[in-house]
Amino acid sequence: MTSNTLSVPAVALGTWAWGDSGEAGDGYFGSRLSESGLREVVDKALSNGFTLWDTAVAYGMGRSEKALGQALEGYDRSSYALSTKFTPQLAGDGDDPVADLLEQSLDRMGTDYVDLYWIHNAADVARWTPPLIPLLESGRIKHVGVSNHNLAEIALADRILGEAGFRVEAVQNHFSLLYRASERAGILDHCRKHDVPFFSYMVLEQGALTGRYNPANPLPEGSSRADVYNGVLHRLQALTDRMGALGAERGASAADIATAWAIAKGTTPIIGVTKAAYIDGLVRARAIELTDAEIAELEALADTADVDTRGWWEQEM
Ligand SMILES: NC(=O)c1ccc[n+]([C@@H]2O[C@H](COP(=O)([O-])OP(=O)(O)OC[C@H]3O[C@@H](n4cnc5c(N)ncnc54)[C@H](OP(=O)(O)O)[C@@H]3O)[C@@H](O)[C@H]2O)c1
Repeated sequence: MTSNTLSVPAVALGTWAWGDSGEAGDGYFGSRLSESGLREVVDKALSNGFTLWDTAVAYGMGRSEKALGQALEGYDRSSYALSTKFTPQLAGDGDDPVADLLEQSLDRMGTDYVDLYWIHNAADVARWTPPLIPLLESGRIKHVGVSNHNLAEIALADRILGEAGFRVEAVQNHFSLLYRASERAGILDHCRKHDVPFFSYMVLEQGALTGRYNPANPLPEGSSRADVYNGVLHRLQALTDRMGALGAERGASAADIATAWAIAKGTTPIIGVTKAAYIDGLVRARAIELTDAEIAELEALADTADVDTRGWWEQEM
């Protein structure tokens, strides 16, 4: 990644669950992650060309950024790219809350710049977009993206940045077989038309679309994701079975098919990786080409499941 062109790998790596690790583990994801396990994820990802890491101050209130920085220690800073977020709801009351939160993120990750800095949500676009401009000018951030923004909000952020010669260089929204609001709202088309990379998050619906979890083997009890998905896993069975079958034809898994679907839709999936073995799935997914008929069949099965997986933090698009 250079400072003037945002280069985007086929798949980006998500680390929300990494905020679960450490002393305060077993929170949102109920995942048991160890420092050495995460180091293994990093080693395998980088050696396979997956170099873009997505995190946020909000993930484990800094623990994800810290764990990511530690896991990347020793690698040349130019061999990977960091993507983190300004979360308006966490803004302090200093003169420049955006710069303050950025500095704290940089400190936790042990670096002096962020490759891709996101406004986490559209709480107040007119207020939170302008403070990004001096950070772009100083090189503390190389590129700016907006997350959980609708079309009008993307356009407003773009206008504000445009006045200073910058632009919204990436969009990040929830986009999965089960949740295609950004496609229906025209955001995917907008990004295609303006050559703005669209990053899709929760492509695997936090594990519910991997085929690994089902009513007999639900998501970890007591975790927030279990509360969201365990009650609907039975409705996803026909879809995940078909994804599993399409995967088996290609020596791949249901999860790989979900990732390949997001790539086929012209997006860059951000996949939450918790185990080194999951990197093998990304290598397979990146090579899978789904046919139009397969895509249509999967989307029809997803529609039949009729579950609404919009996150509590998301607005209608
Ligand atoms: N901008 C935003 O508001 C926003 C919101 C949500 C997420 N995000 C970003 O998007 C990333 C992805 O979302 P997410 O992590 O919430 O969920 P996700 O990618 O939909 O699912 C991740 C979970 O799926 C399982 N998994 C991953 N790869 C697998 C594989 N190959 N085979 C089987 N299971 C697999 C893991 O669960 P187990 O560990 O249980 O196996 C993992 O925790 C986040 O990490 C974050 O960076 C952004």
